[in-house]
Amino acid sequence: MDTVRLGIIGCGGMCGAHLSTLGGKSPHTSEALRPFAGKVEIRGLVDVNLAKAESHRQKYGGEYVTDDPEKIFKDPKIDAVLIATWHDTHAPFSLRAMECGKHVLIEKPMAMTEKECDDILAAVDRSGLTYMVAFRSRFAKGANAVKREFPKPDNIIAHARTPGIWSESSWAQDPIKGGGQILSQACHVVDLMFFLAGAEPESVYATGGVFHHSRPEVIDTINAAVRYKNGSVGAFLGGDGGTGGLLTGHPLGTGCPFFVMVVDKGRSAIALDHGHNCRFESSVPESVWKKPFDAGNFTVDLGEAAAGGVPDILPTFARVILNHETPPATAVDGARTTRFILRCFESARTGKIIKF
Ligand SMILES: NC(=O)c1ccc[n+]([C@@H]2O[C@H](COP(=O)([O-])OP(=O)(O)OC[C@H]3O[C@@H](n4cnc5c(N)ncnc54)[C@H](O)[C@@H]3O)[C@@H](O)[C@H]2O)c1
Repeated sequence: MDTVRLGIIGCGGMCGAHLSTLGGKSPHTSEALRPFAGKVEIRGLVDVNLAKAESHRQKYGGEYVTDDPEKIFKDPKIDAVLIATWHDTHAPFSLRAMECGKHVLIEKPMAMTEKECDDILAAVDRSGLTYMVAFRSRFAKGANAVKREFPKPDNIIAHARTPGIWSESSWAQDPIKGGGQILSQACHVVDLMFFLAGAEPESVYATGGVFHHSRPEVIDTINAAVRYKNGSVGAFLGGDGGTGGLLTGHPLGTGCPFFVMVVDKGRSAIALDHGHNCRFESSVPESVWKKPFDAGNFTVDLGEAAAGGVPDILPTFARVILNHETPPATAVDGARTTRFILRCFESARTGKIIKF
């Protein structure tokens, strides 16, 4: 196998971001990955809105469009699928794709319930297929600089409050189709938090609730204390609520107020936005530890697209399949993130510490 023949399910904005890397021509894709971007071919595209599928076909190629995902699942000329639909379809489409022998690149969140997480983990084990979650922060330049310096920090503090309030009419705020901002978007920061922690969660205690929306079932505010199995501790603050420009624009010209800060024995670092940029600080003598650099403003040096890592995701998926590698973000990572968020909700609802 020297080419990955791809079926696309869900032809919206994020699908376009991935497909713009095809052919290895995107200047935002890391150089080493460009040959793999050249080894992806689109065969079929599905969308409930056929006009969107056709518009992507015209732009990025493909033999056919359809509104029936079964056509993609049963197509013997398709090796792998990219699923970039609304969240309630992620698990059922993933399971059906693996049942039909297709490798899967799934947009986040991988799943919406713990049962879906368990089913996907079992299907990945059973099938031996490649299953990769498109957690973009694992590809971001600042996040990787922090990870290299602090593989196992003592303390991990994550923030994913949005500048604005999510629209009630958005599909992602819908309890069935999306699950709200924390499950939909803060999941990037939760994944980044675990990536930088380098450890599994042991327990979480959260306070929170619904402060900015009308639906009581979609929690929009979480303040959580986290304990990790390796003895590290940390915090996660997620939700929407209008922090506006409080945390944007400084210190590294970041457009989004998300961050994960790690502290380790008098040394610290912060990965900003979705991990685009980073900054280091130290209170220990240089003889003990020397900062690799003060600040990495990759957004300015490379441009926001390259700094954020999205253009590396689809080429990495191709490389992982063709070279039989383990993906940078697996079903285990996808399941951990969904479980953590759901257990934050459970803790906020019950007032109890929840164990993993
Ligand atoms: N990594 C990131 O930074 C990032 C950013 C935005 C969105 N996303 C994720 O990408 C995914 C898609 O989001 P989007 O912003 O592109 O949304 P979108 O609404 O632009 O696109 C989703 C597409 O899926 C189609 N669709 C929905 N249900 C379908 C079904 N059952 N069968 C076939 N087609 C179906 C819709 O018609 C739509 O065209 C979501 O998982 C979202 O969380 C990731």
